[in-house]
Amino acid sequence: MQGNVHHADASTFTTADKSEVYETAISSAVALFESQRFWATNLANAASLMWHAFDALGMHVNWAGFYVVQPRRLQKPSDADTEGDKEVAEDKRVGKRTLMLGPFMGKVACQIIIFGRGVCGTAAEAGTTVVVPDVEKFPGHIACDGSTKSEVVVPILDDAGAVRGVLDVDCLVVDGFDETDVQFLESLAGLIGRSCEWDL
Ligand code: SME
Repeated sequence: MQGNVHHADASTFTTADKSEVYETAISSAVALFESQRFWATNLANAASLMWHAFDALGMHVNWAGFYVVQPRRLQKPSDADTEGDKEVAEDKRVGKRTLMLGPFMGKVACQIIIFGRGVCGTAAEAGTTVVVPDVEKFPGHIACDGSTKSEVVVPILDDAGAVRGVLDVDCLVVDGFDETDVQFLESLAGLIGRSCEWDL
């Protein structure tokens, strides 16, 4: 990423071979993350790399991005909550952690996701990857975009093993992700976790 090489060139994939595209994307991420460790910068470029890699492969990905863990827990319930959503009031009572929308490519998305809710909150709470071949069969799926049919969420862990966020990719077709796609996303999430200062 020096001299005559433009940063935007990292978003251009000249092959439609899946292994090559993913190897190139990971190499670009390694090179980009070497120069600084600010989480927002790295998540923004990682979202771009994913988006253009999936596009080069002709996949029908409609959203690729991140949610980051907000250190402040939900506030204790106020009197106003007693009239509101009982689930939200309970989440507040136990002081649940939340995920906030981070850098992404795609359409406007849900801004706050509570740990344990939706695919993102489930992956964040469990600390493990969740692959959803058909979102209609995942109870509690949060439909930010009604046209999404399948989804993969991978938790991002820091060096100490704490969950700092999740990587989330949505697809317009059922069963849109295979094992190679999931392995790529897990490699990228692992690299991100190790390459950032999580000074949130
Ligand atoms: N579907 C996710 C919400 C985030 S959007 O897909 C961008 C979920 O169920 O957690």
